[in-house]
Amino acid sequence: MTFPKPNKIVAEKYVAGMSLFKSKLAKIKLSANESALGPSPKSKKEYLKVAKSFARYPDSDGTFLRKTLSDKFKLDKNRIILGSGSDQIFELVCKSFLKKGDDVIVPKYSFIIYRIYSKMNGAKVIYSKEDNFTVSVNDIINKVTKKTKIVFLANPNNPTGTYIKKKDLLFLRKKLRSNILLVVDDAYFEYVKQKDYLSALKIFKNYKNVVMTRTFSKIYGLAGLRVGWGYASKEIINALNKVKPPFNVSRPALFAASAAIKDSLWLNKEIKHVNKWNKKMFNEFKKMKIETNKSYSNFLLVNFDRVKINSSKVFKLLAKTGILVRKMDVYGIKNSLRITIGKSDENRKLISKMKKILNVQ
Ligand SMILES: Cc1ncc(COP(=O)(O)O)c(C=O)c1O
Repeated sequence: MTFPKPNKIVAEKYVAGMSLFKSKLAKIKLSANESALGPSPKSKKEYLKVAKSFARYPDSDGTFLRKTLSDKFKLDKNRIILGSGSDQIFELVCKSFLKKGDDVIVPKYSFIIYRIYSKMNGAKVIYSKEDNFTVSVNDIINKVTKKTKIVFLANPNNPTGTYIKKKDLLFLRKKLRSNILLVVDDAYFEYVKQKDYLSALKIFKNYKNVVMTRTFSKIYGLAGLRVGWGYASKEIINALNKVKPPFNVSRPALFAASAAIKDSLWLNKEIKHVNKWNKKMFNEFKKMKIETNKSYSNFLLVNFDRVKINSSKVFKLLAKTGILVRKMDVYGIKNSLRITIGKSDENRKLISKMKKILNVQ
């Protein structure tokens, strides 16, 4: 007897940072770059209000949230598309633009999701080199072939935490053929305060060959609700809308996100908290001889080459004490862990456990 056979998909499966539900031990979760302080109380309130009408489908076009976003960032609401996480925007982009025989360029240490969706849609993934864990715009340009269809970038980047300067991004766009789509992921842009940085949305707002993405999963603390968005030309958004599933963002997510975007006070509190702890943790790690590049996000990529104990041992020992961080094996970054900046007491505990593990005072 023969059975139905699914298509063969040659792409790695995304392995998420271990969930609290899977590991009873993990009291402190610093593995998924979620927000330290959680969602704005105003967005929680909105979520609870929607609980009265769970029987209703959401507005499939998310008109209300798109209007809120366009008012906030001075955008054309018809050029905004909502996704079940920004993750879904990458999926829609790959679905609408890629076919077998296309090449996609991603930086060597970029967010895994880009390569997964590219491969799922038949493309070959080409990896550009990095200079000291920073995207090399020149190497991306060198890797372009006739087959190149999309270049994916996150700025700042996960898992390295580094950023590309505004002038380098503009240079990249100028050097890429105009029919190559540049996708720039602004997932962590709120944390960057450097003068030579600008979010993709600000730089490329009026470009016809750039898709910019943003998420409510990081600074807005709504990872569990799954909501993100993309901005691009009308032509691109129309194409993405053709492959977008209906009702892809739930009612609670739409309303909680709308409230979150309006609560700037809460946002600034989170930025202040994360940037303060970023400096503190960087210095504490330095004292422990754990190397880390300067991060402009809510996490640090730390390397254990200069200490006697390796990253997998540290991972296990931290997990034993209930602290979950992220292994970097899937990214191919050796002897390293990625640590999300958490609440103050969580960060203090992490530093103290780390000191114990490394036997330093
Ligand atoms: C660079 C980057 N982009 C996007 C995402 C995913 O965001 P979302 O939850 O909106 O799918 C992540 C999550 O880790 C990320 O690190």
